[in-house]
Amino acid sequence: MILVTGATGKIGSRLTKHLIDSGERVRVVSRSEEKLEGFKKLDAEPVIGNLLERDSCLRAFEGCDRAFLLVQGDPTSGRHYEEEIQVGKNYAEALKAADIKHAVFISSLGADKGTGSALIDSKIQIEADLKNAGVPVTVTRPGNFLENMYNFLETVSSAGFFTYPMPGNIKIPHVSVDDIAEIAFKVLKRGPNGWEIIEMPGIEYSFFDIAMEISENLNRMIKYMRVSDEQFREVYSGFGISDKFCDDYLAMFKFFERANFKYNPQSIPPEFNYSPKTLEEFVPELVRSIK
Ligand SMILES: NC(=O)c1ccc[n+]([C@@H]2O[C@H](COP(=O)([O-])OP(=O)(O)OC[C@H]3O[C@@H](n4cnc5c(N)ncnc54)[C@H](OP(=O)(O)O)[C@@H]3O)[C@@H](O)[C@H]2O)c1
Repeated sequence: MILVTGATGKIGSRLTKHLIDSGERVRVVSRSEEKLEGFKKLDAEPVIGNLLERDSCLRAFEGCDRAFLLVQGDPTSGRHYEEEIQVGKNYAEALKAADIKHAVFISSLGADKGTGSALIDSKIQIEADLKNAGVPVTVTRPGNFLENMYNFLETVSSAGFFTYPMPGNIKIPHVSVDDIAEIAFKVLKRGPNGWEIIEMPGIEYSFFDIAMEISENLNRMIKYMRVSDEQFREVYSGFGISDKFCDDYLAMFKFFERANFKYNPQSIPPEFNYSPKTLEEFVPELVRSIK
């Protein structure tokens, strides 16, 4: 039985489908009974649980031999860093208690160094805690998700601008959640390989590149506009996002600005036959939600 955490989210929902289609028995965990409803017809075993709570986390792992792990602190609580660290510690304990034979953990690009953003730096501590558990874990470190763009579409449709709080010419690695789920699936099917790290940055694109691709797909000019940190905060806090989360989001963009990414395209073992989704493949899907 494979435990899938984050099953109601972007990566976990895709992974769950792959696993079930391939004949695996899957347990999905969520805090919400309602969100778990859809999994019943998929033939997954739904478990209501809060992974922040130690006992609930231990129960979710009981009887499983493999696990897919991710952590997502609450962006509204102001305590997302502490929450992620706690969930990581709960995972480390549960891996041992349930005698898990192989786990996959979604970390982040940048988790090999301090970045100044708790959104990434939490993963450094969690990787260390999981490693100390002494259980075989494959860590994948994805780049910026292409799908994050869905959160930045409002100004595209209302004003013809694509906006981010970053200079338009800096290239940062972008990866699709489809690819992350597919690699996690292949890694779980392959089996354990000790403590293993797979960098999964994706392809480097600038925000100018992205605005141009959106323009071509919409057949109208969409300009890239860098918004100030203050404008970004104003919009995000309007959605209930905490000041601390905004600070960390902005610190992550500052890290991207100075990171000077240089990733080895061979970092994903050839056995996985990985061909990252391109911007040209992704944007037609994206613009369908604004047309
Ligand atoms: N966005 C990026 O560009 C990027 C880049 C690199 C790495 N990452 C990492 O990717 C991960 C996010 O993956 P995603 O986008 O697939 O997730 P997502 O769509 O944001 O979904 C989050 C999932 O976490 C679950 N969750 C949160 N707190 C929980 C708790 N206390 N107990 C049980 N479940 C809980 C939610 O379940 P319920 O709400 O149903 O309980 C939901 O299924 C994060 O670790 C993030 O740091 C993101």
